[in-house]
Order: sequence, then structure tokens, then C-alpha cells
Amino acid sequence: MHLLTRRRAACRAATIPGMGNAAEARRSINDDTGPARRGGGARTEGLTKVYGSGDMAVRALADVSVELPAGRFTAIMGPSGAGKSTLMHCVAGLEDATSGKVYVGDQELGALSDRGLTKLRRERIGFVFQAFNLLPTLTARDNILLPMTLAGTTPDQEWLATVVRVLRLGDRLSHRPSEMSGGQQQRVALARALVTRPQIVFADEPTGNLDSRTGGEVLNLLRNAVDDLGQTVAMVTHDPVAAGHADAVVFLADGRIVDVMEVPTPDRVLDRMRGLGDVR
Ligand SMILES: Nc1ncnc2c1ncn2[C@@H]1O[C@H](COP(=O)(O)OP(=O)(O)OP(=O)(O)O)[C@@H](O)[C@H]1O
Ligand SMILES: [Mg+2]
Repeated sequence: MHLLTRRRAACRAATIPGMGNAAEARRSINDDTGPARRGGGARTEGLTKVYGSGDMAVRALADVSVELPAGRFTAIMGPSGAGKSTLMHCVAGLEDATSGKVYVGDQELGALSDRGLTKLRRERIGFVFQAFNLLPTLTARDNILLPMTLAGTTPDQEWLATVVRVLRLGDRLSHRPSEMSGGQQQRVALARALVTRPQIVFADEPTGNLDSRTGGEVLNLLRNAVDDLGQTVAMVTHDPVAAGHADAVVFLADGRIVDVMEVPTPDRVLDRMRGLGDVR
């Protein structure tokens, strides 16, 4: 098993204005002991995922054992078709494993009923899909608040305002997805994943459609959520600069983990990607 437990050498000092209780959150995280702090991160043991059967079978993941440690930012990289989205979907409980186990904190997902899995997804996980998955009939505001509407909870207004401001969505809140650009839809999907302050945020290429300035701000937002709130973040990306914001990078190829890089820099990540033939 790959343990990505090393603390990032230089903790980024920047904080998000409006995150008033960050110090308190950090203190309560530090007070906790053991690997299950703040509900823990996530991990897989021998995770295999096969789509289809017989001649049509595609083995998207083969015996993957990986840890997404609590309170860390892990990037997942690899060539197209390597299994990155499949890994995120399986760990987030959106797809069943064919074999092997997935844990979110101490909870093994295969042991949960459908209802238990839905509850865990709703309460503990935020997911930014590669294809956004916004509801076309809802405005940006209603899409962002959908997880809370479904759960019957109300948003922390200060945090909601921070997310909307950082993602520059203030003048788009009453628009429907068809009235927004790809980058704007991506930002709404990010806001939806962050607004509940889930334990784990999974983001599948969250900066893929953004200009470099907005992309940089999104990465800082994710980084700060890890540093200030102890959030666990897993992000798929093809961008070495984006991966440089993470604490570690897991490289996948052909459904297997081929490398784990701690304290990544864009140059080292680019070198490793070249080795995997993944340069766009
Ligand atoms: N629902 C599905 N049915 C059949 N095959 C699938 C399905 N989803 C994914 N696959 C296959 O599984 C493999 C891994 O797909 P996955 O989407 O995880 O790749 P990826 O690393 O996210 O690629 P990309 O960078 O292009 O998004 C691919 O060969 C893909 O064709
Ligand atoms: Mg993908």
C-alpha cells in the first residue's frame, strides 16, 4: 500500500478571507489523535473494476491499493483511459468495486446498504464531475445549494459568500447551465462540491476549462481548504502546475499505480508524465 503521509514541507500561509473559524477548525483537527481524524481520509485495498463482460470486458482498475490521507491534497495523474475517473468514482461510492475494498474513514463501502451509501455520499463527500453534471432546469444558485436542499440543511452564509466570490459566480447565480460558459459551469460544480464542507472533495479535472487566473484561484481555494479546514482533497489533473499544489501525486497507467511522488513540483511532475507518454 502506498502511504502518502508526509506533511507538506512548507505549509502555504495564505488563508481565505471570511473563513473566520479556520483557527478553531485547525485546533480541533490537531486535538484529534489517530488516523481517523475528522472521519479520516479514504483508501482502497486491491481495488479492481471491470466494465462489461466476456469479449467486451474492460479492466479499468487492476489491484489498486492507495491511500488518500485525511487532511491532505492528493493529485491523480496519468494518460487518458488510465482509470483516474474510475478510481475517483469507486472511492466516492458512485461505482461498485468488482473486487477489493474501499474505505471512507473506517467505513467499508461494500458493507453499506444503498441507503447507507447514499447518506455517506450526501453527508461526507463532495464530487466535481469531469462533465459537471449540473441540473439543466435549475439556476446556478439552486444547483450550488442542491446537496443542502436534498439533505434539508441550510448553508453557512459566510462560507457560501466566500465560495461564490472566489469562484466569481456572483453575477451568474440566477442563470441556468445552458446560459453559462463551460468554465462558469465548472465553477458552479465546484461551488456545489465545496458548499457543504464535506470531509472529502473529489474533483475530476476541476481546472480543465478555466483560464489560468481562475484556475489558479480554484487551486488556492482547494489548497486552503486542506490547510485551514483539514479537508481531504483528491484531484484528477493533466496539468503539472495544478499537481504542484498537491501534497502528493499518484500516477496511474493502464489501471495500475505506477508511481507516487511526494512534495511534487511542476518540473518533476512533467518529467514523470513524459516517462508515461502523457504530454498534451
Ligand atoms: N461505463 C463504462 N463502460 C465501459 N468502459 C468504461 C466505462 N467507463 C470507463 N470505461 C473504460 O475504462 C477505462 C478507464 O476509464 P476512465 O474514464 O477511468 O479513464 P481516465 O483516466 O479518467 O481518462 P481521461 O483522462 O480520458 O478522463 C477506459 O478504457 C474507459 O474506456
Ligand atoms: Mg477521466
